[in-house]
Amino acid sequence: MKGILLHGGHGTRLRPLTHTGPKQLLPIANKPMSQYCLESIRDAGATEIAIIIGGIGSNKVKEYYADGKKFGVKITYVEQEYPKGIAHAIRLCKDFIGSEKFLVFLGDNIIQKSILDYAKDFEKSDAEASILLCEVDEPSRFGIADMRDGKITKIMEKPQKPPTNLAVTGIYFLTPKIFEIIDRLKPSWRNELEITDALQMLLEEGNKITYHTITDYWKDTGTPDDIIHANKAILQSMKPYFHGKKDDAHVTGNVMVGMNTQIHNSKIGGPVIIGNNCVIDGVNIGPNTSIGDNTKLSYCNISDSIIMSNCILSGNLKIRKSIIAANSNIILEDDSDEKVFLLGEGTRITL
Ligand code: TTP
Repeated sequence: MKGILLHGGHGTRLRPLTHTGPKQLLPIANKPMSQYCLESIRDAGATEIAIIIGGIGSNKVKEYYADGKKFGVKITYVEQEYPKGIAHAIRLCKDFIGSEKFLVFLGDNIIQKSILDYAKDFEKSDAEASILLCEVDEPSRFGIADMRDGKITKIMEKPQKPPTNLAVTGIYFLTPKIFEIIDRLKPSWRNELEITDALQMLLEEGNKITYHTITDYWKDTGTPDDIIHANKAILQSMKPYFHGKKDDAHVTGNVMVGMNTQIHNSKIGGPVIIGNNCVIDGVNIGPNTSIGDNTKLSYCNISDSIIMSNCILSGNLKIRKSIIAANSNIILEDDSDEKVFLLGEGTRITL
């Protein structure tokens, strides 16, 4: 089975973070979110992977994943000139896929469970597609599957009156039959070729679509809140390690600290990850917080946040539920109240 990883799209809901690169490279627990997807595809046995790239930061994707050797896979890059929809992106991979069954993973979907068993089931089955469903609280925000007697009867995109709360997640097992379906699809109201429409057409034409329901963690990380949520879930599942140096530091809970990181006079309450070469002085960090490599923090208080690499944060700042992109500086010279930030790369703030 081959794999397709979708790394294109607009990422509008994550601006300004997506002005300087694709959302799928944003770090969750200090690792690009699409790397979790790539590893999941690989661990399902698909080591030949096409990565769909397009728009801002395509070069950053190529630089990071290169030929895939470092990740134990072989990567082919497929350029999508404009994000015309998930089904459009899949259609671009027709030649790459050939006549095999394959698996598609949206590069902004985080799931913790292995998909190996689902892949094995699909290899054996006579279905033309298999999808993963997950119960959600706000079904009108998602593609939804309607069911009767344990069988999928309809698949629809963001219904106003959802018949179930079973969201179609961004992991699809497909056969090459989907390519001729996509060739006959009409663009939706948002002018995209929708994967939900393609699946619905498969169903209408009498093809079998099977499913599994995920009860473990699944998140489609389209918004800043989703990313902060996924960061918390991943941090909670990590095993603690400490490769840095500390003096006068109080460390409790699930805490991961990288090489050459120095922690003085600070309180770290996990789950927290701190990267390599950081300097942490007089700081209160946690819970649910990721700090990237080479970041310097002094005298601040940070929880439920992602501070990326090469940042400097100094002063009596209270930061929560924030995402601060790489190379940002926040220097607080006067005391002030709690702050909430969503800062793009290279931001400079002096308060
Ligand atoms: P979406 O989250 O639906 O769209 P988006 O990434 O453009 O974001 P926004 O709505 O905030 O503008 O995309 C789901 C996944 O599919 C995501 O990983 C991006 C990817 N994608 C493509 O690779 N090509 C496309 O044409 C589209 C629409 C999405």
